[in-house]
Amino acid sequence: MPKHPVIAIDGPAGSGKSTAARLLARKLGYTHVDTGALYRTVTWLAIERGVDLADERALAAVVPAIHVRFEPSADGQRVFSGPRDISREIRTPELTRQVRFAAVSPLVRKALVPVQREFAERGPCVMEGRDIGTVIFPDAQVKFYLDAPLRVRAERRWKELVAAGKSATLEEVEREEAARDESDLKRATAPLRKADDAIVVDTGRFDIDGMVEHLARLTGERLKGGGA
Ligand code: DC
Repeated sequence: MPKHPVIAIDGPAGSGKSTAARLLARKLGYTHVDTGALYRTVTWLAIERGVDLADERALAAVVPAIHVRFEPSADGQRVFSGPRDISREIRTPELTRQVRFAAVSPLVRKALVPVQREFAERGPCVMEGRDIGTVIFPDAQVKFYLDAPLRVRAERRWKELVAAGKSATLEEVEREEAARDESDLKRATAPLRKADDAIVVDTGRFDIDGMVEHLARLTGERLKGGGA
C-alpha cells in the first residue's frame, strides 16, 4: 500500500484523463502527477543532448537527469525539468510522435518506476498514465480506467488543436489517435490495460463538471470503504 493515498487513473490518449486528473486533484487537495509528461521529458532531454532515440541504453541513461516538477497554473499545469519550464516543448506534434521510443522501451520504463513511486512518498496524489493501476501502484487505494469511443476522443483532440491555432483535419487526428492506441495497447512491456479492480468510466457520457463529481464521489466511497 502506498504511504499516502494514490488515485490511479489510466486510459487511452484523449480519454479526458488529464483534465479529469487535474480537476479531481484540485478538488481533493492532492498533487496531480501526469506520468505521460515524464516520458515526454525524457524524450525532450534526449533530443537536447543529441541522444539517438533508437539507442535504448542511451535513452534510459537520460532518466536520472530529468528532475521533473509540476506546478498548477490557470491554463492547466506547468512542467519543469530542473529550472526550465518545458510545458510547451514537450507537447509539440513532433515530440508527440517521437515519445513512442521512450514508451516502448523496457529500460526506460524500468528506470521511471522509482521516479513515479517517489511522488507518492511526498503526499497524496492523483496519478494518471497507462500502467499506474497495473504496474506502478497495483495496490493503489482507488483506480479508475477512463475511456471514450475513438471518434469522441479524436474530436476532443482536434478541437484543442484548432483552438491552439494549429491546422489539422479530424480524419488526420483520428488516424494519429488510432496509431497511438495501437502502440499503447500492443507494446510488450506494460501495455495499456484495465486493472481488474479499476472502475471503468465512459467519459463521453459526462460533461467535465459531472465527471469530476462522479470521480470524487466514487473516490470518497472507496476511501471510506478501506480501499479497493
Ligand atoms: O499521456 P501522454 O500522451 O502525455 O503520454 C505520452 C506517451 O507516453 C504516450 O505514448 C503513452 C506513454 N505513456 C506510457 O506509456 N505510460 C504512462 N504511464 C504514461 C504515458
